[in-house]
Amino acid sequence: MERIVEIEKFEVENNYETTLRPNCWEEYIGQDKIKKNLQVFISAAKKRDEAIDHILFFGPPGLGKTTLAYIIANKMEANIKVTTAPMIEKAGDLAAILTNLEEKDILFIDEIHRLSPAVEEILYSAMEDFRLDIIIGSGPAAQTIKIDIPRFTLIGATTRAGMISSPLRDRFGMHFRLHFYSQEELSKIISIASKKLNIKCDKDASLEIAKRSRGTPRIALRLFKRIRDFAEVDNATVIDLNISKFGLDELGVNEMGFDELDVGFLKILLEAKGKPLGLNTIAAALSEDEVTIEDVIEPYLLANGYIERTARGRVATPKTYELFKFKRQNKLF
Ligand SMILES: Nc1ncnc2c1ncn2[C@@H]1O[C@H](COP(=O)(O)OP(=O)(O)O)[C@@H](O)[C@H]1O
Ligand SMILES: [Mg+2]
Repeated sequence: MERIVEIEKFEVENNYETTLRPNCWEEYIGQDKIKKNLQVFISAAKKRDEAIDHILFFGPPGLGKTTLAYIIANKMEANIKVTTAPMIEKAGDLAAILTNLEEKDILFIDEIHRLSPAVEEILYSAMEDFRLDIIIGSGPAAQTIKIDIPRFTLIGATTRAGMISSPLRDRFGMHFRLHFYSQEELSKIISIASKKLNIKCDKDASLEIAKRSRGTPRIALRLFKRIRDFAEVDNATVIDLNISKFGLDELGVNEMGFDELDVGFLKILLEAKGKPLGLNTIAAALSEDEVTIEDVIEPYLLANGYIERTARGRVATPKTYELFKFKRQNKLF
């Protein structure tokens, strides 16, 4: 028993994301509208001494969906059970999870768009009526067993708003779409992390890291951690602008915050000289899978006007041509 706890502790301490994950609203920077709404819903639910309504978070990876789930659990003083859709293979897996919950517990299901139809079916009555309808046997001998389960809260997270079936979506009382962060917000997140990690970071240095983080806290923190390593090797006690610029260049993150994948993606569009390209064509040219392109690469580029998605495919915008100093007619690189 002791050892398991020790191992868990060890793993937790090794995972900087867990260490740096805020557990209160004060440290959760940005997403102000979502924060405000949740604070109201949480205090109302607490006043009524009820579980909070089911919540669905949409947004690209690393924007703080999981973090929000933990903060909600913390504020509700509720237990949280965390799982991800691909881990719930059979209806029975979900039934086991649900019957083990306690009143007002929070169940967090990540990548919820990946639930199998059979599992999703079970979830409907669980969310709506707090009841499991389980069919045992098949054919004329089949029986439905109804089991009451505790009034719990489901928090779902997905990178794919469009892939959630509408019956599932409709059963969530609240939907929130997370947005990319401003440079100022990311710089604040870095500054909080630097205090937690016990190293000073100049404001202009944190702004520089923020500028190159694709609007994403997870990337900002990852870059910050790597730059801290550069500083430590250098015996520097403060992360200043020089160290961070040096580190960012070493890490291959350019001024725009594009990494190699972004640049590769944009080059493919630029080389098409305005001809729209389909997702599968780009995936083949980039040797990346389509999901990575749609979930990880494109949202930031779309949100910042570097690319457009038309019915016929993806194109680079004039802004991108300008950025790469590249006219449509010109021969490429
Ligand atoms: N608004 C925020 N304020 C401070 N840190 C954040 C915020 N959002 C995310 N983070 C940090 O970024 C990391 C990734 O966030 P996470 O919640 O795991 O993203 P997601 O679940 O959306 O992929 C976490 O370790 C967390 O510390
Ligand atoms: Mg997550």
